[in-house]
Amino acid sequence: MDIFCPQVKPYECLSLPRVQFWVRIMKEHALFIKLGLACKDVELIRQAEQFYGVFASYEKEAECFSCEEHFMAFVEKIMVDVKKIFAFKRHILHLLVHCEIGGYNYPLLIDHISREAMYFLKLLGKIRDRDMKYPVDSIVSDNVFWLRHMADHARFIAGLLDPSERELVEKANAFAVQFEKLELQARDLDSMLWHSAPNNNLVRFEQDATKATTKLRDFKMAARDLISACKVVSLIPPLLADHVLREAEYFLQVLDTIQEDLRSIENQPIMTCDF
Ligand SMILES: [Fe+2]
Ligand SMILES: [Fe+2]
Repeated sequence: MDIFCPQVKPYECLSLPRVQFWVRIMKEHALFIKLGLACKDVELIRQAEQFYGVFASYEKEAECFSCEEHFMAFVEKIMVDVKKIFAFKRHILHLLVHCEIGGYNYPLLIDHISREAMYFLKLLGKIRDRDMKYPVDSIVSDNVFWLRHMADHARFIAGLLDPSERELVEKANAFAVQFEKLELQARDLDSMLWHSAPNNNLVRFEQDATKATTKLRDFKMAARDLISACKVVSLIPPLLADHVLREAEYFLQVLDTIQEDLRSIENQPIMTCDF
């Protein structure tokens, strides 16, 4: 993570970019929800706009803090609104799956962004408790979360590209299949390594996840550039393309942190069984 706030303590310098990242993500989620609502749902549109304003003002506020107390007070304040936006997203999802509202928001997209709000809430809780050993959950649970989200992104891209873009739709679907497999493998590892120290298999898995995510990040970057230059037909706004790209870059940073932790066991001899 970049340290760009030199006058505060290193601890805040590490946490602040993460908070800034997620505040912007929450703001953009509010915009995406609004854009996908039907025009007649004026009250929901108003609430989405309100959330956009709340997180836009946090974005301005989240610069430098004169002392740790101010930063921690800011963290507590954001937690309140992240809980509210989480509840709002779940409410929209409830209305969608019960066919009480229409519009163009995929229910899975709303579910996805509600999971991201919960992830941010957990992260803020860890910052508040000064517990930053792992990104949010245990190493493997964090992988499960992010691999699922990378698979979802690929599914959203495939579903929002114009059907005539057959080549790109195929590529996006291939990424979705690859990440769904990686997610299942991460779940298996999570269960196998429960209450146990990380092993060399996990080290190899993290390397595979990093390779796959780097390729997906490159694909998202190419898609973002094509969409921004109007060289592809789709229902994907350039901001959404950029949003999913930034999330892939964030996951690569999480993978980096995980791999740093695992590097210490990499040189240990692999346990073998002689049958
Ligand atoms: Fe997001
Ligand atoms: Fe996402």
